[in-house]
Amino acid sequence: MFRQLTLTAAVALGLATGAAHAAGKEGEVYNYDFSFEGPFGSFDQMQLQRGLQVYTEVCSACHGLQYVPLRTLGDPGGPGLPEDQVRAYAEFYEVFDPTLFDGEGDFRPATPNDHFPGSQLAGAPDLSLMAKGRAGFHGPYGLGLNQFFKGMGGAEYIASLLAGYTGEEKEEAGAILYENKAFPGGWISMAPPLWGDDVIYEDGAPTDVESMSKDVAAFLMWTAEPKMMARKQAGFTGVLMLTVLTVLLYLTNKRLWAPIKRKAKQEAAE
Ligand code: HEC
Repeated sequence: MFRQLTLTAAVALGLATGAAHAAGKEGEVYNYDFSFEGPFGSFDQMQLQRGLQVYTEVCSACHGLQYVPLRTLGDPGGPGLPEDQVRAYAEFYEVFDPTLFDGEGDFRPATPNDHFPGSQLAGAPDLSLMAKGRAGFHGPYGLGLNQFFKGMGGAEYIASLLAGYTGEEKEEAGAILYENKAFPGGWISMAPPLWGDDVIYEDGAPTDVESMSKDVAAFLMWTAEPKMMARKQAGFTGVLMLTVLTVLLYLTNKRLWAPIKRKAKQEAAE
């Protein structure tokens, strides 16, 4: 019976792998190190600021971040921009305000209370939640095993994607596709957005394709999960309290049963 069950499971797994291979080749995702990995990891504020710069100067031409309020750029634990810089950054964008111009609506500069604009190019997905959307669905069988065992998630995928262009391109049904090692299926319609030295960092950090890819991937991890630090801290406090509780319960248990055990021992001795 047991043997039969294992056999069935093995066959089912084999079939599933076969199907995944048939669906197209899986992307190659590189296991980059990020500061926010591990139970005590936290976002690197300078890296988030550099990532914001790459997003602003390169990606925002096509991609939006419509679920991210601009004021959160000033939050501690995030990019942590000072208030005046957040305001100045917000004014860089224009938003449509339906209350202006006697209810007809008009454009005005954004304020920190507005969100980032949406995508400028139809077909370019919004990136607000992309780092979570793409977390875990790669690796063996798409079961999130890499995420579980190696801590690989959406940030690794995004960095691998941006640095994963081979330089090959082809035309298919009138659209140009670019070969990319990280993209499932191998061909993506996004032209390589980073070429090296696309931005000038104030802190003098390297601006090769891989470094910029990691910076913007870290920034997008923050947009997708701005409260990651608070969540980890709450989790750690929870584990600590449960540990203390376990010890207390163990000692209580010992103490409760001690007289009864003593009696049983005496009876056995008599
Ligand atoms: C010229 C426009 C353009 C620019 C600039 C651009 N992208 Fe894209 N991006 C696209 C398009 C179009 C797609 C959809 C590609 C597809 O599905 O084949 C896309 C898809 C993506 C995806 C999703 C891939 C997936 O798994 O579906 C990510 C992540 C991404 N872009 C990140 C970025 C980042 C980060 C930058 C800035 C460094 C950037 N893009 C710059 C047009 C652009």
